[in-house]
Amino acid sequence: FDMTHFSTIDSTNRYGHSVTSPHIVLAEQQTSGKGRLGRSWASFHGGIYFSLVINPNCSMDEIPTLPLVIATAIARVFRNHLNIHAQIKWPNDVLVNDKKVSGILVELSGETDAPQKAIIGVGINANQTVENFPSELQDKVATLKKIKGKPIDRKVLLCKVLDEITILLNMLNENISDVLNIWKEFSCTLGKEITVKQVSSRNLAGYAIDIDERGALIIETKHGKEKILSGDTFHN
Ligand code: BTN
Repeated sequence: FDMTHFSTIDSTNRYGHSVTSPHIVLAEQQTSGKGRLGRSWASFHGGIYFSLVINPNCSMDEIPTLPLVIATAIARVFRNHLNIHAQIKWPNDVLVNDKKVSGILVELSGETDAPQKAIIGVGINANQTVENFPSELQDKVATLKKIKGKPIDRKVLLCKVLDEITILLNMLNENISDVLNIWKEFSCTLGKEITVKQVSSRNLAGYAIDIDERGALIIETKHGKEKILSGDTFHN
């Protein structure tokens, strides 16, 4: 892996589109961190911000599972190395005590029918102070420092996360259902009454039953089963 380390950049994901894979783009802070669904990502000093640029050697069908696989890797590292009870809210928010600690934004570059590379952007709230987040986020986010009561070693954590991502991406190539089963162990969405705000469609409310082999969420609504490919989940 080549690595580029910025002290400040607009967005590691944006930069990731211009590098050849495999490559890691790392930044101490971002001035226009990108979040899912066109949102921004608070990216000041103390957090971990990186984009992993790879040629995914999974099939196009498996691409939608990439964010779930990455969330699983992060949740596993939080549990196994920091002893933090991390959970995953579908599709890929990593939560601790219902507060968001990590977010993932996967983008593809190239034609959608034949992607050249995947840009896997990861933000982890590590050593920031929660009080420094924008006020509308303060009751929705947590940082590892706040949870552990002391700052964490960001370098060690980054290495563990990259190792775990490598392990799970290999597993994805072998047998997709193995990885999705691990995702399910970490899920705090399955088995709950939820509402999903869909990107360009109506809201759907129902009982979250399962995810399918592409990572789509299956919910039981008043009108029967529905499959959702992307959106924002709210636990009722
Ligand atoms: C989300 O909305 O939950 C996804 C947030 C993804 C943030 C990361 S930080 C590193 C990378 N660069 C970006 O601009 N965004 C991602």
